[in-house]
Amino acid sequence: MPTRSLVKDILARESAPSDESLLIQGWVRTRRDSKACSFIAVNDGSCLASLQIVVDHGIPGSDDLPEATTGASVEIEGSLVPSQGQGQKWEILATRLTLVGAAPDDYPLQKKGHTPEFLRSIAHLRPRSNLYGAVFRVRSRLAFAIHQFFQERSFVYVHTPIITASDCEGAGEMFRVTTLEGAEFTAPNAAAADFFGRATYLTVSGQLEGETFACALSNIYTFGPTFRAENSNTTRHASEFWMIEPEMAFCDLEGDMNLAEEMVKYLAADALEQCAEDLALFNSFVDKGLLERLRFVIERPFQRVPYTEAVEILKASGKEFDYPVAWGLNLQSEHERYLTEEHFKCPVTVYNYPKDIKPFYMRTNDDGKTVTAMDLLVPGIGEIVGGSQREERLDVLLENMKAHGLSKDDYWWYIDLRRYGTVPHAGFGLGFERMLMFVTGIPNIRDVIPFPRTPGSAPF
Ligand code: 4AD
Ligand code: MG
Repeated sequence: MPTRSLVKDILARESAPSDESLLIQGWVRTRRDSKACSFIAVNDGSCLASLQIVVDHGIPGSDDLPEATTGASVEIEGSLVPSQGQGQKWEILATRLTLVGAAPDDYPLQKKGHTPEFLRSIAHLRPRSNLYGAVFRVRSRLAFAIHQFFQERSFVYVHTPIITASDCEGAGEMFRVTTLEGAEFTAPNAAAADFFGRATYLTVSGQLEGETFACALSNIYTFGPTFRAENSNTTRHASEFWMIEPEMAFCDLEGDMNLAEEMVKYLAADALEQCAEDLALFNSFVDKGLLERLRFVIERPFQRVPYTEAVEILKASGKEFDYPVAWGLNLQSEHERYLTEEHFKCPVTVYNYPKDIKPFYMRTNDDGKTVTAMDLLVPGIGEIVGGSQREERLDVLLENMKAHGLSKDDYWWYIDLRRYGTVPHAGFGLGFERMLMFVTGIPNIRDVIPFPRTPGSAPF
């Protein structure tokens, strides 16, 4: 019986016993015919490279060669031999070819380069292309590295609910979850008749639930899907994305910023080490400065600047921004990018934002005007992390909730955390896709999500 092998493992082999029979399964990338034999490049997605298969005309199954065209799936039995051609160490000398599934010539992924827009329109075939195979391998590795980062530090992984009744960020950008239809939905008291007996939504953040677990298990993290019905059609916003939200008890803003910076560096270093081949592809074809930037990010300390000072820097920059810069206004993406790309020329954490533009749960500073919020900004993207120290003082929290028009009855369980054994605590949210954009250099968030959902678009 031949041993089934992934291309990745074969290409990493040091030696090849001559009596060993291997089974390779994958999709034909190209086929080239000569008089006595054909050369098939087979890709199985386990790595960027395809494996060259030499099929002598006359072996069992070689009658099917004409149908082994680009996109067809094949199984090959054969032995590993040192490659005659350039570039690869090994090739397979086939002893049997099986055509598993043909691909007619209207197969959409032909050899010529395709635009990201076109490939998004065939999202079911997109991962078979070199670039997107690489993106989604890196995505998988990065998810693993995130767990590794936290597990190495004894953080406990918590699954927070996807269906929730609370709007953590207070922006009202929630998708309603309902089983009501038509007139039922608009009837008075409709929510009470709904599936859960109240209005429910897809979560915008697992933070509030995460806080309850941090106030029991000390250091926790969540990692799950997040939904925002925000009508912003930008290259950095998706309606469904994944977020990592650590929360630490007995932790202040300083500890929070330390963890965020450490995590971004750790993930960049992991990708450089574990996904070298895929990152080299991005460096050649997507973003020529990628590898240099990632190395720089890992080696150098990040900068930190209070919001108030960041506003002064922006005002003094002499740049013409589309959006106004003034104390009390939110920083826009163009401002964030100026700070990180032009002023500091490295990742920068902006902290202590005006109280009025931030959610109810952030801790009020002694000045009464600012809260312990922090955003970590990176070149090319802007905000990648948003976090804060939480308001642990019951009286101040209640006041903040009142100012935000939130009902005590809805958040009684969150308030209870401050009534029973309250502790200073802090956490943040890292946008998983934004981190992926950062380590791949891919400029559009749609291209790091297998099936992206954005306003007006959910085709698969
Ligand atoms: O800044 P945000 O809204 O913060 C929170 O949700 C807090 N509850 C986090 C916490 O303190 N536990 O979102 C956190 C991060 C952003 O910095 C960004 O990277 C990402 O989530 N993000 C998005 N990513 C893709 N598409 C969107 N629409 C996003 N909105 C936020
Ligand atoms: Mg934010």
